[in-house]
Amino acid sequence: MKYAIIGSGKIGTALAHVFARKNIEVAIANSGGPETLASVAEQLGASIVPKSAVSASGAAIIFLAVPFSTRKDLAAQLPHWHGKIIVDVTNAFHVAPEELGDRLSSEIIAEAFTGARVVKAFNHHLRNGLERIRAWRVSGRPCSYRIMNTFDVNLPGTELG
Ligand SMILES: NC(=O)c1ccc[n+]([C@@H]2O[C@H](COP(=O)([O-])OP(=O)(O)OC[C@H]3O[C@@H](n4cnc5c(N)ncnc54)[C@H](OP(=O)(O)O)[C@@H]3O)[C@@H](O)[C@H]2O)c1
Repeated sequence: MKYAIIGSGKIGTALAHVFARKNIEVAIANSGGPETLASVAEQLGASIVPKSAVSASGAAIIFLAVPFSTRKDLAAQLPHWHGKIIVDVTNAFHVAPEELGDRLSSEIIAEAFTGARVVKAFNHHLRNGLERIRAWRVSGRPCSYRIMNTFDVNLPGTELG
């Protein structure tokens, strides 16, 4: 599968709404397992496919919609993340300053998901605002992405916008 959302909480579900609206297939995972996502899938339709986090990690483009503190557990799902794009939706709330040091939180995410290309995006949207966004493009260009550790990511703005 091309897309996955890991995290089915407030922002993960809001993202799933966007995919469902466009009828774009996306895997969705949480810590509770796919059976806990049956009602979300039923509500949003067939394009939303519940999976385990391990299985969802097989997608090429993964929206990371989980608490920042879970990054190491999730990164351990795969031996490496080469070739994958992580869309980092997280915010480093409740993280001690010494844990961040002088680094951006997305640099820490990129370090955890070794080999992945990390794009910081959507973390600055409130979940309700995200659902209202109908056009994620300005003057034909994706407007909601901020590229952190790469400059050659082909983002899904066209499909989702
Ligand atoms: N809420 C917002 O408006 C908003 C906006 C922008 C960015 N953010 C950021 O997005 C992230 C998620 O926020 P949220 O408000 O959506 O949180 P939330 O409602 O608490 O949801 C967190 C989700 O992460 C899942 N999760 C936790 N550990 C996991 C693991 N090891 N493997 C797989 N899934 C795991 C949880 O699974 P279970 O459901 O099974 O517990 C839950 O679905 C945070 O970093 C937050 O700062 C939030």
